[in-house]
Amino acid sequence: MKKLENTPSKDLDSRFKKYCESYSSNINTVSVQGIDFLVYPNVYRAESASTTSTILRTMDDFEGLRVLDMGCGTGILGIIAALKGASYVMMADINDAAIENTKANIEKHQLSHRTKAVTSDLFSNITEKSFDIILFNMPFLYAKENPSEASLTPPEHKAKVMPPPESFVDVGYKTIRRFMTEA
Ligand SMILES: C[S@@+](CC[C@H](N)C(=O)[O-])C[C@H]1O[C@@H](n2cnc3c(N)ncnc32)[C@H](O)[C@@H]1O
Repeated sequence: MKKLENTPSKDLDSRFKKYCESYSSNINTVSVQGIDFLVYPNVYRAESASTTSTILRTMDDFEGLRVLDMGCGTGILGIIAALKGASYVMMADINDAAIENTKANIEKHQLSHRTKAVTSDLFSNITEKSFDIILFNMPFLYAKENPSEASLTPPEHKAKVMPPPESFVDVGYKTIRRFMTEA
């Protein structure tokens, strides 16, 4: 059987450079499904991400469910789950800036009575023992040993406002393997 290799492509690099242009040192407001979200610097931007919108398309009735949004970024998936009726949503991310951003969005949508946000490397800081649904828009690009293999080099002027590489790249698929085992 032929082994699939991840070959960095010039096309990916140029698309990534274009995507980087949406990042800024300001706090921006974006609208997704008619809902406004704050986006902080150094946090994965969801509004133009096809992975986020694919998951959003599958999100239907959350009435009464307890939800974990792993790798929450801006908190977009967890907040939409809460707005669709989830009784409790825990949002977790390894990136402190993402948790700060998520807390601001929780406040913006007045959801603090039904939601929580914590910095956590996967389940390390999650004390709850069970959820009805776990959402994880995982870092989706593979690199064998180093994120730089994934051919995602931000343009120099955007380097300081980009999220950390683990927002996009999963070296050796270690994160998704750990996630599946620990979940
Ligand atoms: C593709 S982004 C998705 C962000 C957001 N859920 C969305 O859909 O817009 C992946 C997120 O996973 C987070 N992440 C990566 N590794 C993680 C880990 N070991 N534990 C928790 N979060 C992690 C990143 O910081 C990033 O915010």
